[in-house]
Amino acid sequence: MEKLKIAGGYPLKGTVRISGAKNSAVALIPATILADSPVTIEGLPDISDVHILRGLMEEIGGTAKFSNNEMTVDPSSMISMPLPNGKVKKLRASYYLMGAMLGRFKKAVIGLPGGCYLGPRPIDQHIKGFEALGASVTNEQGAIYLRAEELRGARIYLDVVSVGATINIMLAAVRAKGRTVIENAAKEPEIIDVATLLTNMGAKIKGAGTDVIRIDGVDSLHGCKHTIIPDRIEAGTYMILAAAVGEGILIDNVIPQHLESLIAKLKEMGVEVKARDEQVYVGPADQYKSVDIKTLVYPGFPTDLQQPFTSLLTRAEGSSVVTDTIYGARFKHIDELRRMNANIKVEGRSAIITGCGQLQGAKVKASDLRAGAALVIAGLMAEGITEITGLEHIDRGYSHLVEKLNGLGATAWREELSQEEQEQMKNA
Ligand code: EPU
Repeated sequence: MEKLKIAGGYPLKGTVRISGAKNSAVALIPATILADSPVTIEGLPDISDVHILRGLMEEIGGTAKFSNNEMTVDPSSMISMPLPNGKVKKLRASYYLMGAMLGRFKKAVIGLPGGCYLGPRPIDQHIKGFEALGASVTNEQGAIYLRAEELRGARIYLDVVSVGATINIMLAAVRAKGRTVIENAAKEPEIIDVATLLTNMGAKIKGAGTDVIRIDGVDSLHGCKHTIIPDRIEAGTYMILAAAVGEGILIDNVIPQHLESLIAKLKEMGVEVKARDEQVYVGPADQYKSVDIKTLVYPGFPTDLQQPFTSLLTRAEGSSVVTDTIYGARFKHIDELRRMNANIKVEGRSAIITGCGQLQGAKVKASDLRAGAALVIAGLMAEGITEITGLEHIDRGYSHLVEKLNGLGATAWREELSQEEQEQMKNA
């Protein structure tokens, strides 16, 4: 087990290249199950979630090769192998195996997903969709059993706008008989990316990116080549980092339209932001003004950037309020930021941040992926050395983080935990 050490307090500059989108990747890879010949996905991020899913593609009888950020999955010899335990518990997105395996084999057994703890994360809307398509769904000892004689298109209204449920229902519906209509669908760019892959595989999908998606089922899908979209959350993280400690940072391989809410908030704070075709330049601010943030479904301010933004707000004059309307308990980073001298209190679904002047380096723990990103930014802002444990969370979503930070002039490195520290982690 390792920790990340950051010598903070120094300005960064240069160019950072953004990797492919994690939250697309984790759906695109399971989507390959639905084809009957090899699918190649280009530009995948080199993160643990991608490697775990590659292993799962092989566990169910396929072949999956990953090199140079490209994965080719041959799904032709896959079978509906039950996956009640093991790797599926390591990531949230293993729920996409339910939709994809149900769509192809009309049956699946998948353990309830793991991933970051952000408060309760039900999958009732996924199940509502599978049942509407004709599947029976039962939960037996922590695994979901799905079975259908036949999947038939249906009209499905999502009671909660959910990225996962929208994609999962698309996966199950593309090979169903007849038309499926998903109403109150999520509109995130990752949904369009998955619909694009499925369309290239021969699926008939209209309306992805709007709140009504229409799918006309087809009998079979074929292989193809697909290039993933850039990761808007990784890009947003580096933009926030640039605003916090940058002396001019160019973020390359971005779709700026995916980040309009963040760009607006950075500008409101007084940060210089210039968006170009596939790049965003972020300069420092003369004076950091406090701003309030409320997370919303896309195109609102993303919940996934709420935690990193909180670190930046410790630099602002006055008080800022960050309210998370998506996940009411996504505040585990706050205690750690307090260890670093941040002045923050949590009231219900909101964090109230009062500018604290200077953060101080400390020993902190990443409790989830974006909490980890928040602590990395805080570590770069802080005086002295910050030590971050819980790197398994950060490794799930940030490709080559240390290399990218050091490429901007940071002093960050990974170190093996001592025996004593490992014992402390086990007992924590
Ligand atoms: N919800 C339900 N029932 C459902 C599904 C969702 O009540 O069946 C609720 C959730 O509890 C939550 C809200 O709806 O309050 C949104 O959940 P959603 O299903 O959209 O979340 P998700 O698909 O599980 C994805 C991302 C998350 C991101 C959210 C919101 C993936 C693999 N994960 O999760 O990403 O926070 O959308 O944008 O795509 C991250 O990258 O750090 C991350 C957690």
